[in-house]
Amino acid sequence: MGGTGHSVFFLLYVLCVLWTLFEAESQKTSDCARWCPLNSRCVNATACRCSPGFTSLSGDIFTNLLENCDDINECGPPLAVSCGKFADCQNTEGSYHCECSPGYQLASGAKTFKNESENTCQDVDECSFRPPVCHNSTVCVNTVGSYRCRCRRGWELKPGFQNKQMNTTCQEMSFPAWTEPPGIKSQRLSNFFKKVQVLRRDFKPALAQDTIQNLITSVDELLEVPSDLDALALPERHKMATHLLSELERVLRTLAKAMPGASFTYRSPLNTELSLMIQEQGDGYTTIGQSHARMLLDWAVAAAARDSDPTVMGILSSWKMQKLLANASLELDPETKAKLKDLHQSPVRGAQYELLSAVNLVFLSNTNTEHLDSPVTFAFSHPMKTPGPRQGLVCAFWKSDDRGGGHWNTTGCWTRGTSNDSTTCQCSHLSSFAVLMAHYDIEDPKLALITKVGLALSLVCLLLCILTFLLVRPIQGSRTTVHLHLCICLFVGSAIFLAGIENEGGQVGLRCRLVAGLLHYCFLAAFCWMSLEGLELYFLVVRVFHGQGLSKCWLYLIGYGVPLLIVAISAAVRHEHYGRSLYCWLDPEDGFLWSFLGPVIFIVLFNAVIFVTTVWKLTQKFSEINPDMKKLKKARVLTITAVAQLFLLGSTWVFGLFLFNPHSWVLSYTFTVLNCLQGFFLFIFHCLLNKKVREEYRKWAGWVTGNRYSEFTTSSSNQTQAHRPSESGM
Ligand SMILES: *[C@@H]1O[C@H](CO)[C@@H](O)[C@H](O)[C@H]1NC(C)=O
Ligand SMILES: *[C@@H]1O[C@H](CO)[C@@H](O)[C@H](O)[C@H]1NC(C)=O
Ligand SMILES: *[C@@H]1O[C@H](CO)[C@@H](O)[C@H](O)[C@H]1NC(C)=O
Ligand SMILES: *[C@@H]1O[C@H](CO)[C@@H](O)[C@H](O)[C@H]1NC(C)=O
Ligand SMILES: *[C@@H]1O[C@H](CO)[C@@H](O)[C@H](O)[C@H]1NC(C)=O
Ligand SMILES: *[C@@H]1O[C@H](CO)[C@@H](O)[C@H](O)[C@H]1NC(C)=O
Ligand SMILES: *[C@@H]1O[C@H](CO)[C@@H](O)[C@H](O)[C@H]1NC(C)=O
Repeated sequence: MGGTGHSVFFLLYVLCVLWTLFEAESQKTSDCARWCPLNSRCVNATACRCSPGFTSLSGDIFTNLLENCDDINECGPPLAVSCGKFADCQNTEGSYHCECSPGYQLASGAKTFKNESENTCQDVDECSFRPPVCHNSTVCVNTVGSYRCRCRRGWELKPGFQNKQMNTTCQEMSFPAWTEPPGIKSQRLSNFFKKVQVLRRDFKPALAQDTIQNLITSVDELLEVPSDLDALALPERHKMATHLLSELERVLRTLAKAMPGASFTYRSPLNTELSLMIQEQGDGYTTIGQSHARMLLDWAVAAAARDSDPTVMGILSSWKMQKLLANASLELDPETKAKLKDLHQSPVRGAQYELLSAVNLVFLSNTNTEHLDSPVTFAFSHPMKTPGPRQGLVCAFWKSDDRGGGHWNTTGCWTRGTSNDSTTCQCSHLSSFAVLMAHYDIEDPKLALITKVGLALSLVCLLLCILTFLLVRPIQGSRTTVHLHLCICLFVGSAIFLAGIENEGGQVGLRCRLVAGLLHYCFLAAFCWMSLEGLELYFLVVRVFHGQGLSKCWLYLIGYGVPLLIVAISAAVRHEHYGRSLYCWLDPEDGFLWSFLGPVIFIVLFNAVIFVTTVWKLTQKFSEINPDMKKLKKARVLTITAVAQLFLLGSTWVFGLFLFNPHSWVLSYTFTVLNCLQGFFLFIFHCLLNKKVREEYRKWAGWVTGNRYSEFTTSSSNQTQAHRPSESGM
């Protein structure tokens, strides 16, 4: 029986252990918190832990019953997983993955990846993946995630289509229309345009290279000397040059787009050089050019804003073009003028020049080249030349004007340096360029001083004359009236000259036109009054000897009416020729100066004839048996005075012709001195040498200084008079 008891005991023991184990197990289960929220597990009876990829506000493990486990955004901060280039990070519930950006895919073909190191994203080439979708006149261009169609070389957009669309359609390029400039008669030019028409008719994009070469040869032939173009007037030449340059630019730009290959250079037998660069894409700085000119510019500058392919850059350098563009004016920019003024201590009036380099026509796809984003640098070759004093090398461009002509202008171009045989320039805009050797016309400070002082003296003298003629009773008469108005005209003219002859250069404003018109009027009027003096003398001596001469009415009509008529007609026909960029005077273009010179020469000759007749009549009268010596002597004095006056005024303006030609500085000085002395001489002739006037002056001096002095001056001047018996007395 004892064995059975043992067994029961053992069984009880096992049961007891099992119970204990069960108890322990049930105890353990009850230690797990039963409130753990979604995406979490319990840690023990009081704490929960968030699943991977989730977190709560107080961390992974939390004890607060109100906490939640939220998704962690691995793509955003602070983790910000990096997926690498052309890929995006995508967050998912409890995780994330990387995907290639639209238009890219993984090399393996898989859709997602986890780590930057697994990134093999590459562009999908839609052009090779898909069946040909672009029109056969275009080329398919792969873009990110898509494709575009662009015109083939030598093809241009069909009207109504846009380039680089999916539906772009193109047509074969044609030679742009080019018509003759109006109003230029030249056989040579007509022949040129006949050739252009043939080139245009036979043009095929595939033959663009031949067409360009033929065009350049034709331009060479056009400019070959000698030709009937030499007979063209300067304004016509400049018009033709402006037309030729702008049209060549347009035509070459179009033809260049049809050229195969990336670059092209051609040098004609007559040394005209064309360099082209034609590329679909590019960036950074590019150099193009050959021996005559080189250009360095940013690709972005060359490409057109609306990207019509391909991008073209070109330089055409022609030495023959110099002939057409020589003798145009050169306008220096204010900056250069200021620099030269500092250098020479005197303002620069203008500049003459000599063309040194070839004329270089620059063109780009970009046609908006007035203000470039970054400047273009050029190196222009030219024969070696060392600038002398008051000379310098300048980079200038051909600026067309509203009238179709043009001039050289330096605004926006800087000369960066010169070596033996080339000059480096930098410009902020594009056009046709050349290197000029400019001879600066520096204003002569001495001349300016002489003019100012002399004119002031002249004005004082003229004023004295005017007062004398108005106030001195004994000399009143029609001759004095003529003198008076002559002096008034010269006074007003000189005053306007002193105050307003200079123009700042550049624009010719209303003020300058008015000044030029008034000067024209005043000096013409002065000459008219002088011719009246001749007429008076004629009446006095030849016709009646004691005659009355013209009535006042006629005097005014001739003295003020005739110049008014001339100025009115001149202004009506060519008002734009009043005023020049540096001087407010008549523009000699188209012979406009003759509206002044013509009347002046006529009056001078007219007076000369009258004086010769007068002198001849006088000698006859002197040899008469019983001459009236008193009147004859008076007439002789009058004649001498009038001749001297004519000589003074006439010769002044003969020199004045050269005033605006800065080369003849000797003549400029002579003109200035004579011009300034006019008033002084008139004062001497008509006032100081006139007995009645002198007596009147003495009286005035007496009133001013008191009787004692008056007596003294009277006696002393009587003495003087005694020594000079031949003086005039009118
Ligand atoms: C439950 O676990 C947390 C964290 O491990 C601990 O801080 C806490 O003391 C534990 N509670 C109990 C009753 O063991
Ligand atoms: C990504 O891969 C690199 C190297 O292969 C490894 O060092 C890095 O830990 C990985 N990063 C992740 C988030 O797996
Ligand atoms: C384009 O296709 C048309 C027919 O659809 C064909 O006549 C033409 O010659 C093709 N043009 C080119 C440039 O291949
Ligand atoms: C070409 O497609 C564009 C949209 O991609 C559309 O606006 C345009 O009208 C289309 N042009 C022609 C000529 O069909
Ligand atoms: C151009 O200027 C030069 C030198 O000043 C001169 O010899 C030539 O006759 C001028 N040509 C014309 C057409 O005026
Ligand atoms: C300039 O010319 C001289 C001789 O004419 C030559 O010695 C010198 O090297 C040249 N300089 C440059 C920069 O070409
Ligand atoms: C010179 O060119 C600049 C820039 O094109 C222009 O603003 C300026 O008016 C021109 N000067 C003259 C005198 O025409």
